[in-house]
Amino acid sequence: MKGDSPMNMPSLKEARKRTNKEVKTEIYIKNEEYQKTLKGKTFYIRTYGCQMNEHDSENMIAMLKEYGMKEVKDFEDADLIMLNTCSIRENAHNKVFGMLGRIKHLKEQKKGIIVGITGCMAQEEVVAEEIAKKYKWMDFVLGTHNIHKLPEIVDKSFKERKLKIEALSIEGDIIENMPAERQSKYKAYVNIMYGCDKFCTYCIVPYTRGKQRSRSKDDILKEVKDLVKEGYKEVTLLGQNVNAYGKDRNDNYNMANLLEDTAKTGIERVRFMTSHPWDFTDEMIDIIAKYDNIMPSIHLPVQSGNSKILKLMGRRYTKEEYLTLFNKIKNKVKNVSISTDIIVGFPGETEEEFNDTLELVNTCKFDLAYTFIFSPRVGTPAEKMKDDITIEEKEQRLYKLNELVNKYALENNKKLEGKTVKVLVESISDKEGYLMGYSDTNKLVNLKGTEDLIGTIVNVKIKEAKTWSLNGEYVE
Ligand code: SAH
Ligand code: SF4
Ligand code: F3S
Repeated sequence: MKGDSPMNMPSLKEARKRTNKEVKTEIYIKNEEYQKTLKGKTFYIRTYGCQMNEHDSENMIAMLKEYGMKEVKDFEDADLIMLNTCSIRENAHNKVFGMLGRIKHLKEQKKGIIVGITGCMAQEEVVAEEIAKKYKWMDFVLGTHNIHKLPEIVDKSFKERKLKIEALSIEGDIIENMPAERQSKYKAYVNIMYGCDKFCTYCIVPYTRGKQRSRSKDDILKEVKDLVKEGYKEVTLLGQNVNAYGKDRNDNYNMANLLEDTAKTGIERVRFMTSHPWDFTDEMIDIIAKYDNIMPSIHLPVQSGNSKILKLMGRRYTKEEYLTLFNKIKNKVKNVSISTDIIVGFPGETEEEFNDTLELVNTCKFDLAYTFIFSPRVGTPAEKMKDDITIEEKEQRLYKLNELVNKYALENNKKLEGKTVKVLVESISDKEGYLMGYSDTNKLVNLKGTEDLIGTIVNVKIKEAKTWSLNGEYVE
C-alpha cells in the first residue's frame, strides 16, 4: 500500500508512547494557492463526539470558508463531504460507518464529490486499516494532529482522486492562529489544552489525541480578551482534564491561576470542562467560590461508586476521596450544581459493585449524569479484561441507574420552582413560543420573552421543573 499514495497510517504502538520531546507551537498560515481549487465549491460537515470535536469543526469550517468554500446543510448538495468522527464507544463508530454507506451510494452517482473523515476515528489503527482496504473510494483520512492541513488535503483531493491517509500517531504539537467560525455569537469554546496522559484503562482518547499539551497562558487570555471585545458573554475552557492545565509546562502557572485571570478579563461567564477529580485543588475551589463570573457548575465524572472498579479503571481515586472532594466543593461554592459521567458493566463489575454506584448516586444526588454501558475499545487495557456479564444484565443496570439519576435531576430542578435564576438567552427554543438559554448552574431553561432578549443575561422566574429542563418567564 505504502508508496503509491501518501499513507501516513496511525499506529497503536506509537500512540501509546509518551516521551519528553518538546512540544512545538506551530502557526497556521493561509496559502492563497488553494483558493484556485476551492473557491466556489460547497462542503458539508457532520460532527460526532465531544466539545473538542465541535471546536475542531469550528476551526475546519472557518479554514474552508477562508478559501471561498460555502457550507451546505444537506450532504447531497456538497462537493466535499466530511465526517468529524468520535471513537469513544462502539455506537459512535457504527453511526459513522452507517453514514459512509449512504455517502458511498451518493458517490456512485456523483463521481466528482470528495469524501473524507477527520477526528478520533482517523487516529485509530484499526479504522485506518479498514478504510485503506475496504473504502478505497474515499478521498482522505485526516488525523487530529493535522486539522490545520485540511485545506491542503482538500486541494489535493480535488486534483487527484486517490485515497490519502494523513494520521501518523505522534504525541502532537500545538497549532495557533487557526481561524474559528463559532456556532454561537454569545458562547465560545476556548481550548486550553490538547491530549490526555491519564490513560484510564477503558478510554481511547490518550491514543487518538496524543500527549497532554497546555497552550500558553498568553495565547489563551488573548483569545478570551478578543472574545470579550467581540461581545461574547461566555467562554468554556476546554480540555480532557482541565484541572491538570499547566502541569506539562515550566511556567509555574496552574488551572487556578488561569481561572482567576480568565475571570479578571471581565467576560460575564466562565465555564470549564472536563474536571478529573484527581487534579482538583483547594486553590481551584477557592477561586471558583470567589469570582461571581465563574459559574457554579462543575462536571466531575465519577465513573463508578466502587473503589475496586475505580482502581481497575485507573482513575486513581477511591470512592471516599471522590466524596471528600464532592463535599468540599458543595460546602465552599454557593448553590453549585454538580454533574457526572458513569460507566456501568465495566469488566467484572459484580451486582454488589454496581450497587455501590447506586449508593453513591443516592449520596451525591447529582444535578445531571451521563450514563454509559462499558464499550471495549481496541488497544486499551480494559479491552483485554475478563468480562462475563451479559449485555442484557448491563442494559438492566443502565436502566436502573437512569431511573435513579433522573429522579434526582427532577428533584434538584423542582427546588428551583418559584425561584429566579440568571439565564444567558441564546435563541428561539424548539418549544413553541419560547426562547432558550442556560442558567448559571447550566440548566436548560425555556422562557417566555421577546426576541430582543437573545444575547443578553436576564432574570427568569421558574414556573415549572422537568427532568431535563426548566420552564419560566422573563422578569425585570
Ligand atoms: N476526560 C473526561 C472524559 C471524556 S470521555 C474525564 O476523564 O472525565 C466522556 C465519558 O465517556 C467518560 O467520562 C466516560 O464516562 C465515557 N467513556 C469513555 N470511554 C468509554 C468506554 N470505553 N465505554 C463507555 N463509556 C466510556
Ligand atoms: Fe479518557 Fe481518562 Fe483521559 Fe478522561 S481522563 S480522556 S476518561 S483517559
Ligand atoms: Fe470522541 Fe475523541 Fe471527543 S473519542 S469524545 S471525539 S476526544
